[in-house]
Amino acid sequence: MKLHVNGSEREVDAPADMPLLWVLRDLLGMTGTKFGCGIAQCGACTVHVDGAPLRACVTPASAVEGRKITTIEGLSNDGSHPVQRAWAELDVVQCGYCQSGQIMSAAALLTQIPKPTDADIDQALSGNLCRCGTYQRIRAAVHRAADLGKG
Ligand code: FES
Ligand code: FES
Repeated sequence: MKLHVNGSEREVDAPADMPLLWVLRDLLGMTGTKFGCGIAQCGACTVHVDGAPLRACVTPASAVEGRKITTIEGLSNDGSHPVQRAWAELDVVQCGYCQSGQIMSAAALLTQIPKPTDADIDQALSGNLCRCGTYQRIRAAVHRAADLGKG
């Protein structure tokens, strides 16, 4: 099947029911997107499909053929996305395992709501779990990214 990932057309030899997460990590070598629960409960595998957040662990790759997939590797090519800059500035990350999913959810939120409230952030990221408990810094970093995004 053909998948459109991070601006490139990629031909992958995968069964139709293979989860997108497996295709990204095992066939395309994009290991920035993480496997956490495998049942759409933790958010570690969040990518964008046509700009909206989606759980790659429960999405068959064939379901997103022809759609625009963006992974953490494609959010920017130099770490310059406002969310990435804010995350670095506020030193959000602890172990890091959940963070690419957090960043992808935050980036999608800011596309929809450029200046989100605390409630907007809590709602949009409620499905992204962090066992290190970085939630306070995540929330602060989303606000900072909103400011950076204004240029
Ligand atoms: S690995 Fe997909 S939601 Fe947890
Ligand atoms: S930073 Fe460790 S799980 Fe979130």
